[in-house]
Amino acid sequence: MILLNQVNKTYHPRGNAAVAAVKDVNLQVESGEFVVITGRSGSGKTTLLNLVAGLAQPSSGQVRFDGVDVWSLSDRAQAFLRNQRMGFVFQFPSLLQSLTTLENVLLPAMFAGRDGKKPLRERAVQLLEEVGLADKLSFYPRQLSAGQQQRVVVARSLVNQPELLLADEPTSNLDEQSEGRSSTSSRISTPAAGLPSCWSPTPAIS
Ligand SMILES: Nc1ncnc2c1ncn2[C@@H]1O[C@H](COP(=O)(O)OP(=O)(O)O)[C@@H](O)[C@H]1O
Ligand SMILES: [Mg+2]
Repeated sequence: MILLNQVNKTYHPRGNAAVAAVKDVNLQVESGEFVVITGRSGSGKTTLLNLVAGLAQPSSGQVRFDGVDVWSLSDRAQAFLRNQRMGFVFQFPSLLQSLTTLENVLLPAMFAGRDGKKPLRERAVQLLEEVGLADKLSFYPRQLSAGQQQRVVVARSLVNQPELLLADEPTSNLDEQSEGRSSTSSRISTPAAGLPSCWSPTPAIS
């Protein structure tokens, strides 16, 4: 499903020496696989995920999604791919402040033109139940803790039933329940359905 072929990403910050953030990475991820990327901060995890998502362009090498070179696609086709086939959990909560919890979860579905349908709303509510926020559907982000906001993001990432889920240190904000767990791992997974148990912001996280 995902193929990275000799991928490099070098940043050239103005006035500073070039930074080789990702070097000669070859990676193949098949449907049904769950990949955890570990490394200390600055080791290139976010850059690697951005490369997989097509959010960063490789300096050299290729990123393929289902055999297609992501950078051969138009902006529109890339956006479609991200919206319809990928789910994202970024490292920092990224909710729209003017929308409620439920509306935030429904947003990717709205972009996909699927918002009005009742099963979708039910799915969003169910996902919010799974992450333990059934009683916060009409709360706004500012009324939630950082960890709760991140759980909304996890629900949002799954609403369009993505084939590929990218999560950048998804548990780093998950309060007391994430204590003792590595906060420096990012994940690539291909969820067949719903929320893999190891993602759940409950003590089930391994
Ligand atoms: N936009 C950028 N411009 C310049 N350097 C960057 C940029 N983004 C990341 N880097 C550098 O690339 C390296 C890898 O960063 P990053 O992928 O964020 O690592 P991680 O997610 O593992 O903490 C770091 O040295 C960082 O400073
Ligand atoms: Mg990072």
